[in-house]
Amino acid sequence: MRLAAVILAAGKGTRMKSALPKVLHKVGGKPMLGHVLDAVVRAGVQKKVVVAGYGGEEVKSYVGDLAQVVYQEQQLGTAHALLQAKDLFTDFSGHLLVVCGDTPLITSDTLSMLVREHIDNKAAATVLTAFVDDPTGYGRIIRNDYGGLSRIVEQKDASAEELQVKEINTGVYCFALSGLFETLQQIRPANAQGEYYLTDIIEIYNRRNLKVAVCSGADINEVMGVNNRRQLAAVGKVLRDRVLNRLMDEGVTVIDPQSTYVDSTVIIEPDAVLYPGSIIEGSTKIASQAVIGPNTRIVDSTVAQGCQIQYSVVLNSEIGSGCSVGPYAYIRPGTKLGADVKIGDFVEVKNSVVGKKSKIPHLSYIGDAVIGVGVNVGAGTITCNYDGVNKHITEIEDAAFIGSNTNLVAPVKVGSGAVIGAGSTITKDVPQGALGLARGKQVNKEGWARKKGK
Ligand code: UD1
Ligand code: CA
Repeated sequence: MRLAAVILAAGKGTRMKSALPKVLHKVGGKPMLGHVLDAVVRAGVQKKVVVAGYGGEEVKSYVGDLAQVVYQEQQLGTAHALLQAKDLFTDFSGHLLVVCGDTPLITSDTLSMLVREHIDNKAAATVLTAFVDDPTGYGRIIRNDYGGLSRIVEQKDASAEELQVKEINTGVYCFALSGLFETLQQIRPANAQGEYYLTDIIEIYNRRNLKVAVCSGADINEVMGVNNRRQLAAVGKVLRDRVLNRLMDEGVTVIDPQSTYVDSTVIIEPDAVLYPGSIIEGSTKIASQAVIGPNTRIVDSTVAQGCQIQYSVVLNSEIGSGCSVGPYAYIRPGTKLGADVKIGDFVEVKNSVVGKKSKIPHLSYIGDAVIGVGVNVGAGTITCNYDGVNKHITEIEDAAFIGSNTNLVAPVKVGSGAVIGAGSTITKDVPQGALGLARGKQVNKEGWARKKGK
């Protein structure tokens, strides 16, 4: 059986009150459209088409080569939107899934169930429906005397009696492609919104005695449509729970799911522990036995086995196994920590490599540095990496000891095993094994305090 999918994504999303096209609003770390694309891919479709319109170029550049894109110049309604894909189906026969780009919770399992029922029923059209407590805003499913689908009526066109119906149109359908586009051309915008409603196809098919079916197994937590920011947040909560439940099932400890935020794109191995306030985003990977949080944000980073990261922010960096980071550390993009590194409290590290077992325990700024193995960086040490025009590199070789409150004025190099006296401002390279000392000499004036007091 040949199966294709069209995702309707041309609407502006007026109720979002946004310059960004609705389907590009992110939820769970990914545009809504991305979630829908994932689901149709996993449902095994052979062809994917996205109908773009408002912000079409932005939508197209997001879609890239994940799907073909057609444009709907004016947003005249869902039937008109689907019709724009007509030319892409001249030599494709089989069945078509139609999904809205604003229903990011839809799963491939549900799409597959819909397709199965559609095929089993030999239907021309099958509508995925759901029973909900509050059907406000959705199209209502109107059944005939025999329990079959009679028609779908939109909220704005429904009678008081029809508004009571709790079975809603999810906006997900499966159609036989044969005759579909010809029928769409016959739909007229004779309704309250003056739009070409895709849902009107049901009455037309019924009139022609073509088989229309209903697949009513959908859960509201899969078909919730996003029309405003409140619904975006509600969908975000469902996605979050889904991700956390999966992670817990896979062996990750989540101390408090209510205050833990993990994007669906994140990978976490079993026996990692997430404390409250963990926010883990993007392409982050966290290995087993890592302990994250409390109150830690990690974005697009890898965290190796057994790390502990607390009260800290880590962006675009690699944290080696067994590292301890924080509390209150800021690891900025381009940082690579080797194994068993300690980055302590109030330390900022930017675009630097730190060799294994090195320690930067307190109150430091390390930027554009290359630090070897087993280096100790004393409290308050700062790399002066910026001369106001250019950034320069600081090199600290293996086993060097940097005394507290040192300024390392880059470009500068401290050789292996060298020692820097506390309070030094180092402007020249320090050779291997040497003591580098660059501070004012102490002067003691005997009896000075007593005389002053007199
Ligand atoms: C639609 C359904 C409604 C269903 C609901 C489910 C129709 C007439 N109504 O209503 O029965 O309960 O979805 O969420 O189909 N779009 C276009 N071009 C257009 C208009 C819309 O591409 O000209 C796209 C939108 O970007 C969106 C989707 O179609 O992704 C649905 O449009 P929307 O305006 O949100 O329809 P609803 O009023 O939610
Ligand atoms: Ca909608």
